Amino acid sequence: MTSRQLVARAAALALTAAAAVSSMTALAADPIRVGLVVPMTGPFAYMGRQIEAGATLYLAEHGDTVAGRKVEIVIKDDVGVPATTKRLAQELVLNDKVTVLAGFGLTPQAFAAAPIATQSKTPMVVMQAATSSVTEKSPYIVRTSMTLPQVTGAVANWAASNKVKKVVSMVSDFAPGVDAETTFKELFTAKGGEVVESLRMPIITNDFAPFLQRARDANPDAIFLFLPAGDSAAIFMKQFAERGLDKAGIKLLGTGDIVDDDVLGQMGDVALGTITSHHYSAAHPSALNKKFVAGIEKANKGMRPSFMAVGGYDGMRVIMEGLKVTNGAGGEALVNAMKGQQFESPRGPVQIDPQTRDIIQDVYVRKVERVGGQLFNVEFDSQKAVKDPGKAK
Ligand code: PHB
Repeated sequence: MTSRQLVARAAALALTAAAAVSSMTALAADPIRVGLVVPMTGPFAYMGRQIEAGATLYLAEHGDTVAGRKVEIVIKDDVGVPATTKRLAQELVLNDKVTVLAGFGLTPQAFAAAPIATQSKTPMVVMQAATSSVTEKSPYIVRTSMTLPQVTGAVANWAASNKVKKVVSMVSDFAPGVDAETTFKELFTAKGGEVVESLRMPIITNDFAPFLQRARDANPDAIFLFLPAGDSAAIFMKQFAERGLDKAGIKLLGTGDIVDDDVLGQMGDVALGTITSHHYSAAHPSALNKKFVAGIEKANKGMRPSFMAVGGYDGMRVIMEGLKVTNGAGGEALVNAMKGQQFESPRGPVQIDPQTRDIIQDVYVRKVERVGGQLFNVEFDSQKAVKDPGKAK
């Protein structure tokens, strides 16, 4: 065995031992800790801000006590760096004795933490990372966000039925981008459309000009776009307009990540008319969503919730309802108590798939419109109870 393998073996043993000790020594008066690992600083800080807001609101609305014990969120900032995510997850299990690991903004972070969940038998609730394969990385993972293949199908169908024939696909070059690219191409071409170019762009860049030039040269009817939600989509939109692609009649399509509610308000008119498919809009017309939007705004200085806040809110719901069933216990029992949960979310009806531990949900087709002076994703069509199609392969 190399010294690296030895260190890894020792760390794995420590995690297993920690899990055993913490389940033996939990006292009725001890709080139950949920370790929330998210980016709170750096380029993906908005993810942590939204997820924390959602998780915190759930406890504020529904109470933070279960089986006579208080539930505490222990928040850790991984700055979006996977090696940090892994170290923090390990520390949360060993030192803070958390019952649940949660959060995980980006796919590489979820991948990095998965072995810690498996070794320590700690349930890991993925509230955001959205590559299809995330849930396959540990039997302790339950996901309350979405998957890219799940949300991409509806916009591919919309394009094929609305006179869009030729598309240039543009995605960020990492796992969720590849998931989006593959799903769009497969479904759109199956319905007679053509993807004439598939461009992959750096995850973090302020310069989309070379890619937009290539896209324009291909003279498509539309661009299909996936970028991680946040500021980069706003920068892309601005450059899309500056280079005259909108004037050239090229439609912008994508997953809802590109018109995320967190930044849509600041995007300006260039975003008007953008058609996307996604599982959540702040404009979703339900009483529960209106209450959710008002609750997030009130507790966070007017912040509009995005799909990430909903992932945090529903993730906390799944944890709390699971803990009620297990009487505060974690481990495999808690994972089992999360499987199959079915409830109304601010996004609409959802279920945790008992087989895959992934979320089953409605996916909406939406158009950016001005409502009461502000830009919103207005839902006009939907697919019901969509499972992640990535799992079927
Ligand atoms: C991911 O890393 O899985 C991810 C990040 C941002 C998104 C969607 C997915 O908007």
